[in-house]
Amino acid sequence: MSTELKKALYNISALADLGQAITSENDFHEKIQSVLYVITGTFLANKGALLFYDKPTNKLNTLTQKGFAPADLDRLNPEELMSLGRNEPYLIGDDPVLAVAGAEILAPLWVRDEFIGALLLGGKLTVGPYTLEDLELLNVIANQIAIALNNHSLFMDLSDKLEENRRLYEEMRHIYHGTLQAFAAAIDAKDAYTKNHSHRVAKYSAAIARELGWDEHEIEGMYVAGYLHDVGKLAISNTLLNKVTPFTPEEREEIRKHSTLSHSITAKIKFPWKNVEDMVWHHHERLDGRGYPEALAQESLSDGVRILSLADSFDAMTSQRPYREKMDVQSAIGELRKNLESQFDHKVMLVFCKVLDKEIKGELPEPDILPHLDRDSDLSVISALLEGIIAELSTP
Ligand SMILES: [Fe+2]
Ligand SMILES: [Fe+2]
Repeated sequence: MSTELKKALYNISALADLGQAITSENDFHEKIQSVLYVITGTFLANKGALLFYDKPTNKLNTLTQKGFAPADLDRLNPEELMSLGRNEPYLIGDDPVLAVAGAEILAPLWVRDEFIGALLLGGKLTVGPYTLEDLELLNVIANQIAIALNNHSLFMDLSDKLEENRRLYEEMRHIYHGTLQAFAAAIDAKDAYTKNHSHRVAKYSAAIARELGWDEHEIEGMYVAGYLHDVGKLAISNTLLNKVTPFTPEEREEIRKHSTLSHSITAKIKFPWKNVEDMVWHHHERLDGRGYPEALAQESLSDGVRILSLADSFDAMTSQRPYREKMDVQSAIGELRKNLESQFDHKVMLVFCKVLDKEIKGELPEPDILPHLDRDSDLSVISALLEGIIAELSTP
């Protein structure tokens, strides 16, 4: 094999090693170290350094090096390296400015018009100077490294931006939730008997959605719909809402307007979640089409509407109202069971029973429903009731 061919093969394998080092999954520092190792090996140099130009501070940072004195590398001036232009690897010789103790070749690293840094080699282990071929190979390598470093720094910038965005988003979500809670408190405050109703409905609905396997974003939307479902009540008179005697048909009509009002209010808000306004609009619809405000047929009722409807009714039944006593938990569950298919959805009911039963049995880390139930409830009786319904609803 001729010397040229041997050298060419050697160069190709060096490039292959380098490509592998650059694209490996290792962490950046490890990767950059092995890149330098491959390069110094290829050029039989016992000194090597990779310098990265940090634009904001206008400084050259040593990413990795071997054999040089750190103080010597610190003396290199980025402006002087940039002034070399995008030239090919440069034989330093005795250049007074670029001579760093023992450095023989300097390759400026550029990507398009962007100065990225520099690669230094020195301490040649074999006799004779570096050849033109060596410089050509180093040129190819320098280009690859420049691109890899540039990608890494773009990636780091992007990660910083993503992190910043994530923080902002978290803050916004925090403020948003605070506002929602204040809103819900205002709704519930209108009616002395429905204190915390919206909060509980939000919790129950989200717990059902979670058990149904919805993703976090969808669950959050469900939660928000729970909070806002009765927002339309803000437009209904306090006297009517707090009336102790039964409603006249006209009064009932007036109260029923609240879901349409909830829809008009929420439709003006640009939510990051789908269907919030649909869920609040239709939370009093029924599967048999006898609900309000639109008496929709069951095919038109989304899962979200079905969840909200059940959560809302369960909380309404287990809360004291001006015109009636509250029901105990077993009776309320019995009532939901009785109105299955005509009013409440089979699957939603099954899932609701499963969540509540898991909460009673301590199988969920953070219970959402149980803490709001009557403290006098006999949990073993409720659990037995739920188990019965789960078994019944699970059989096809
Ligand atoms: Fe309502
Ligand atoms: Fe409600």
